[in-house]
Amino acid sequence: MVMWILFQAPPTTELPRVDKNPYTSAEDLALGQKLYNGRCAGCHGLTGDGGKGANLAVRDLPRAGTDVALYRIVRYGIPETEMPATLMASREVWQISAFVRSLGSSSNEAVKGNVARGEQVVGAKGGCLQCHAIAMKGGRLGPALTDIGGKRSPGHLRSKILEPALEITETFRVATVTTKAGKKISGVRLNEDPFSIQIRDFSDEIHSFFKEQLASVQVERRTTMPSYKGRLSEAEIEDVVAYLLTLRGTVQ
Ligand code: HEC
Ligand code: HEC
Repeated sequence: MVMWILFQAPPTTELPRVDKNPYTSAEDLALGQKLYNGRCAGCHGLTGDGGKGANLAVRDLPRAGTDVALYRIVRYGIPETEMPATLMASREVWQISAFVRSLGSSSNEAVKGNVARGEQVVGAKGGCLQCHAIAMKGGRLGPALTDIGGKRSPGHLRSKILEPALEITETFRVATVTTKAGKKISGVRLNEDPFSIQIRDFSDEIHSFFKEQLASVQVERRTTMPSYKGRLSEAEIEDVVAYLLTLRGTVQ
């Protein structure tokens, strides 16, 4: 039995044998767009600059510099992120990839804000660092923003500052677990799967539970991020967006 497990084939992560995308005709692009609309647009938006996914409407995709790197991401996803693997024929992966590349050549939205002023607002008036870390500085109630500029579009950033409740990330929600012994612990949910959950409580201690130890798990649907509508001027918000877009952190 043990032997059999040891000798199972490893998961296939075959990569194509060509360097360049062989499917880039107008027809391939049209098919790629159809596949994209069905499988990717829900997270990345119809024009690539949307929602929960990384911004794909950029000239250089930070993690997909080459066609093969893009193929690998589309086919196998990015581990430990919401970017899923997909089961598709190799030809379809190439066609979607061709369409994704075309999103980047359409003109990027110009952002007029002032980066230096934006950095000041984030650190002072906005109080963003109470909850967010940038590089090594800041809080941990919200996700680190160190590489947010490579992942999100200007539109998403602006809407997150004005209407934080519209699109809430799955991680960093406030959760409360009750153990079978009746003990309650609240904090920020770091991870959850069908069998376990990890929470960082508000004094920064990390707790890990198997769900079979728990009587209940409650996860807030709300976000703790406040809206800045009326608290920051339109110009200040543009400055913050311009600054956030410069944060490209460490690229995996
Ligand atoms: C469930 C949501 C979701 C779906 C569906 C999804 N993605 Fe993603 N994708 C993400 C997220 C989130 C990231 C950023 C991951 C991270 O770094 O945190 C991402 C990252 C990427 C990247 C990396 C960009 C870069 O260079 O940094 C590419 C390319 C990409 N997705 C393409 C696609 C394509 C093509 C599809 C459809 C086949 C797709 N995605 C479907 C959520 C999704
Ligand atoms: C009281 C805590 C708190 C403050 C203050 C706060 N945020 Fe947040 N923020 C959060 C939390 C929690 C999340 C994750 C849940 C969600 O998506 O709303 C978040 C999410 C975000 C996201 C989305 C991240 C992503 O991966 O898409 C951005 C962008 C962001 N915040 C920017 C800011 C900026 C800019 C400021 C200051 C102007 C700020 N936040 C102030 C708690 C906060």
